[in-house]
Amino acid sequence: MRPQRRSVPLRAVGVLALVLVLASCGRNMAEQPSARAFEASPFFADGSVQQRLLEGTVSRERGGIDASYFSGQDADGLMRDLPFDLTLEVVQRGKERYDIYCSVCHGYTGEGDGMIVQRGFPQPSSFQQQRLLDAPVGYYVGVITNGFGRMFPYASRVPPEDRWAIAAYVKALQLSQNASVDDVPDAALRDLGDSTPTSEGSVRR
Ligand code: HEC
Repeated sequence: MRPQRRSVPLRAVGVLALVLVLASCGRNMAEQPSARAFEASPFFADGSVQQRLLEGTVSRERGGIDASYFSGQDADGLMRDLPFDLTLEVVQRGKERYDIYCSVCHGYTGEGDGMIVQRGFPQPSSFQQQRLLDAPVGYYVGVITNGFGRMFPYASRVPPEDRWAIAAYVKALQLSQNASVDDVPDAALRDLGDSTPTSEGSVRR
């Protein structure tokens, strides 16, 4: 015969629960020794809590540590050039990332008519506005990093090199929407086949 299982007396369970509840009442976590930024500290040789980055420190955000890589601005203001070479691969990567992260609101052509906007999200300005046509590539990097008004920042989702790639693609997108037939290389024009140039000189596909 199997021995019958002894049930734990209810009172013992109650006492155990009370002990556990009381034990968690201390404020040890909140009151442990800690330091605040810029506080003085006798612990470090220079007397400051805030320590300088060691030489050769590598940014967790990849790429350079230079702030302009994230903000799109350097000492001369908004940057007009990428901090790395502009290649077809960069623009293609930018298109892929733009289509994933931005087109849902800004639309595939940057008109600001993406699906989320059609469903009620506030409509952003068209990238074809003169003010935004004039905005240098660094402006777009800054907006992706920091957000803009009701648009939340994308810094946690889009790594810095992709922000530059997206920004480069937005500039290419703007160019494409304002191009004339003369801007299309002859070889590409032949590929357009029977597309008809309109009277304003832009090609409709
Ligand atoms: C969820 C919708 C949404 C997504 C996704 C989104 N945006 Fe926006 N964006 C907006 C809205 C809305 C505004 C205008 C915000 C305002 O004026 O308060 C805006 C503003 C901007 C502006 C500033 C335009 C100006 O008027 O100066 C830029 C540049 C921009 N977005 C780029 C991007 C890029 C690049 C991406 C992709 C990484 C992106 N946005 C993703 C909604 C979005």
